[in-house]
Amino acid sequence: FQVKWDAVAAEKGGYPHFMLKEIHEQPKALQDTMTGRLYPDKGEVRLDDIKMTKEGLESLKKVFIVACGTAYHAGVVGKYVIEKLARIPVEVDLASEFRYREPMVGKDTLVIVISQSGETADTLAALRESKKLGARVLAITNVVGSSVSREADDVLYTWAGPEIAVASTKAYSTQLVALNLIALHFAKLLGTISDEEFREIALAMKKLPDQAKAILDAEGEIKKMAERYADREHIFYIGRGLDYAVAMEGALKLKEISYIHAEAYAAGELKHGTLALITEGVPVISLVTQDHLYEKTLSNIIEVKARGAAVIALANEGDEEITKSVDHVIYIPRTHQMLTPVLSVVPLQLFAYYAAVARGCDVDKPRNLAKSVTVE
Ligand code: G6P
Repeated sequence: FQVKWDAVAAEKGGYPHFMLKEIHEQPKALQDTMTGRLYPDKGEVRLDDIKMTKEGLESLKKVFIVACGTAYHAGVVGKYVIEKLARIPVEVDLASEFRYREPMVGKDTLVIVISQSGETADTLAALRESKKLGARVLAITNVVGSSVSREADDVLYTWAGPEIAVASTKAYSTQLVALNLIALHFAKLLGTISDEEFREIALAMKKLPDQAKAILDAEGEIKKMAERYADREHIFYIGRGLDYAVAMEGALKLKEISYIHAEAYAAGELKHGTLALITEGVPVISLVTQDHLYEKTLSNIIEVKARGAAVIALANEGDEEITKSVDHVIYIPRTHQMLTPVLSVVPLQLFAYYAAVARGCDVDKPRNLAKSVTVE
């Protein structure tokens, strides 16, 4: 027994949980997922296992992104970036919904499935259904040789390394990088991106590992904040655009491992329902990294503050303005506006982790959940 325990402790590399280890592995995972693929100065993206041609892309009417859980949340970000850069309409679907609704998929459709394990039953079934209907399937997965990687037409591996904790962290951030690589690749082939814009985004991507590291180096502050709010029963997450996509992932992390009821809301939808739940002292984590949506989200923050909410803002470094309207601010380093999710998710992962630890939860193996859902 003793030997076995030591082996597990060794695998955790000095961290108390796999989840914390995996959160800290993100700088390297992000780096590895870009290595050999992205060349800012040559204006090139090299994705060897994606064989789609310019003609193939031009014939597409639509892209579907299909996934479950955290991978689905990555897909929501993928929709924004592919539509923005490649100008192809993208629909994002939960695999368990997609496959049962006679999806309008055919030869003129590309289906992108995202799955860390590459074995999730619903995602695999959606892949098979899409192929049967004549669509081309591109898989983003973390496991070489997984079912999804074998059955798809094109594959893009995330090089996150093994993920053990049930709650996904480094798989998500590397899926975001993968989706950005795909968006840049498609945009390049279709000619929908200028050389300057390509270079700007590619250079910003290259900085992400160091910027993620800077957030991790300052985790003590997030730990304190998580401990302060760990006794709450409800926590809300709001944001607009890409910030809303990350809010969903932040809320999922918190419920999965701390069992605090967490809900993500598009900030502009608050007054259509959730505002009724905001009372004195309710924590609202507000993401405000998107410059073009800043004023709008700020007005939502002022609305929740007026009802007594305790607001924690997640903002870009240098945003002094926000301190006037909120209780706490967590800053992320400045990056390209399209890439903020890769950084803003990191403090939310840490917040969920430290809240769960403070509540005495089994962080790596939350109740009722499994790492890979291979049954329907
Ligand atoms: C389970 C895991 C989640 C994961 C989801 C999809 O629910 O607990 O962390 O996001 O499955 O898994 P996949 O391997 O397909 O990405």
